[in-house]
Amino acid sequence: MRAAGRLAADLLKYIETYVKPGVNTLELNNLCNEYTIKHGAISAPLNYKGFPRAICTSINDVVCHGIPKASDVLKEGDIINIDVTPILNGYHGDTSKTFKIGKVPPEIETLVSDTEKSMWIGIEQVKPGRRVNDISNAIDDFLTPRGYGIVTQLMGHGIGRKFHEEPQIPHFRQNKPLAKLQPGMIFTVEPMVNMGTPDVNFSKEDKWTVRTKDGKWSAQFEHTVLVTETGYEILTMPS
Ligand code: MF3
Ligand code: CO
Ligand code: CO
Repeated sequence: MRAAGRLAADLLKYIETYVKPGVNTLELNNLCNEYTIKHGAISAPLNYKGFPRAICTSINDVVCHGIPKASDVLKEGDIINIDVTPILNGYHGDTSKTFKIGKVPPEIETLVSDTEKSMWIGIEQVKPGRRVNDISNAIDDFLTPRGYGIVTQLMGHGIGRKFHEEPQIPHFRQNKPLAKLQPGMIFTVEPMVNMGTPDVNFSKEDKWTVRTKDGKWSAQFEHTVLVTETGYEILTMPS
């Protein structure tokens, strides 16, 4: 899991240099898939429950699961989440980041930085004895007073030999105790944060693209996290 996580993080770092105005998301997809294969891994999203590409590219009002395509060309002022999940020696590493394309409006700058901050606030709860709901509530306590809509229909997840396992990690308030964290558990923390309503639509056309209901923009960051004896270790750190 450490090796898979490190490769995922290195891949996200590698693709960052190509995330510029004028590039299309299919080019980013192809570069990521080639890098993954060159490093002895395969792209988990490709053919996962019918997903047609190797990475997810989610622009502006797309919350997640955006499908790379040649017609999606990045332009100044956009934001894009790139979500990568290589499988190395049977193990998954899952990480994502929202990139700003050049200068974006100040409230979007803040959306992106608050989303990343909320992920870290959630991760800081991770230690044996704490519960999954402590992660959820810490994230909610930071975001809700700031007026954001936290997506509830998609959550973090256990990960390992399988892409998505138990437990689910909600990023919004939980009023009952969820699973206790124990050393050796591995899961993702990946808040999806909307400028407006938390409500989302699932595309009827392509079956994947998740958009905000009100068309306002959304950001996301994701790490794969191991519970250690004393706290946590981020598995998706670049080498
Ligand atoms: N990487 C996403 C996650 O964080 C899942 C993408 S599923 C796909 O859980 F099929 F869209 F790739
Ligand atoms: Co994930
Ligand atoms: Co992911």
